[in-house]
Amino acid sequence: MPSTQSSSLLARPSHLPGSELPIQSVIEPHALRAAVGHFPTGVAIVTTTDEAHLPVGCTVSSFLSVSLTPPIVAVSLANSAGTFNHLNGRGKFAISVLAGSQHGIAHQFADRATTHAQRFRSIRWRAGASGMPLLDNGLSTIECDVHDIVSAGDHQLILGQVTALFCNGWGSPLVHHQGRLGSLSAAS
Ligand SMILES: Cc1cc2nc3c(=O)[nH]c(=O)nc-3n(C[C@H](O)[C@H](O)[C@H](O)COP(=O)(O)O)c2cc1C
Repeated sequence: MPSTQSSSLLARPSHLPGSELPIQSVIEPHALRAAVGHFPTGVAIVTTTDEAHLPVGCTVSSFLSVSLTPPIVAVSLANSAGTFNHLNGRGKFAISVLAGSQHGIAHQFADRATTHAQRFRSIRWRAGASGMPLLDNGLSTIECDVHDIVSAGDHQLILGQVTALFCNGWGSPLVHHQGRLGSLSAAS
């Protein structure tokens, strides 16, 4: 017998009395991006090196702390991100957390038309204890060995065991919210 239910809607779950909103069975990417975009994040540059030990990296907002003991962080990279292949090959990466004044670097490291060599040519950086590139003038840097990589749809979730870190004092972070970059000047 054919279902009378719309193909794009699911029945309201019986355990949610009073809920009148339909649950969408097909989540459109732009809708998910809009919903998740209400959750503000910091902005960082994930870096590693290529086969010639030259620096590569890109802008991320998907960085998060996962475990304190042992110290594990994570970042999610699109399958299409060139940085992922290098990171996977190297088995190491670093995170540089950007300060509020570094929105130009965030745009530069997100620009697909800009090569990795161009991205690093115009900024100040150094090699960390692990040999991974660390950006100068950010808020903190975190060096990692790859702990695990989980394939998740069109992204790869990279878990990193922290091997070294550096905090550059206190400062205002760069913040990503609803597709826009801004500086968080005061928090309480
Ligand atoms: C604020 C901001 C946050 C971003 N966050 C991510 C992210 O978490 N993961 C990701 O794969 N791309 C993210 N991107 C997009 C990448 O930086 C962009 O696709 C970049 O060109 C990838 O470079 P690559 O292909 O050289 O690795 C973000 C871009 C911006 C501007």
